[in-house]
Amino acid sequence: MARKIGIIGAMELEVEKLIEAMEEKKETKIGIRTFYEGKLEGTDVVLARCGVGKVNAGICVQMMVDRFGITDIINTGVAGSLNEKIDIGDIVLATNAVYHDMEAVAFGYERGQVPQMDVFAFPTSPELVEAAEKACLKVNPDVKVFKGRIASGDQFIADKETKNNIKKWFDPMCVEMEGCAMAHAAYINGINCLIIRAISDKADDSAEEDYPTFERKAAIHCAAMVREMMRNI
Ligand code: ADE
Repeated sequence: MARKIGIIGAMELEVEKLIEAMEEKKETKIGIRTFYEGKLEGTDVVLARCGVGKVNAGICVQMMVDRFGITDIINTGVAGSLNEKIDIGDIVLATNAVYHDMEAVAFGYERGQVPQMDVFAFPTSPELVEAAEKACLKVNPDVKVFKGRIASGDQFIADKETKNNIKKWFDPMCVEMEGCAMAHAAYINGINCLIIRAISDKADDSAEEDYPTFERKAAIHCAAMVREMMRNI
């Protein structure tokens, strides 16, 4: 079956750049969301911004599955680092994703476990992770790439105590607000998922200042990576 790749970008500049690079473009509005279908570097894609947070993310993936028949979903965006080795500007490729704000301990579930799901952490596609790593080395050779767990929740983490709790509970590489919901939706639908996150801050007291400064660079790096991946998929 021919692949059709859903791309959900968080950053306006990045999405603008990818739309500009698309051919045979078709714009479809569904409710308040706009989807751009077409070819990116010869590959069939559908591109959208999903809004902030888990529900917006999950809904956008489901719309892409139901209305556009995507076979893969790629999410790009920024994240706060939760690991001393990972600095602002580095890129994290998720190997799996957890919710740091899912908690049903009272019913005997481990913190983070979605009750009655058969997985604890939602997996991403090893094939897409490898392709993304290769693409990044080629187009952003100065950027360090890490692979590991990401944690998502409906919270911008900007204090040490919350940061340390998430580290202690899940030991993720970074924290953001959408990735796990996309991996969860991909898991339920049986499609491939990739989450690419550029580190914008350290998820502590300086997070609010660092975030806007870095966004432009992150958008350029992510757009370049996605284009390179589409050339080779
Ligand atoms: N996205 C970028 N930085 C973040 C942070 N510190 N917390 C949650 N989401 C983020």
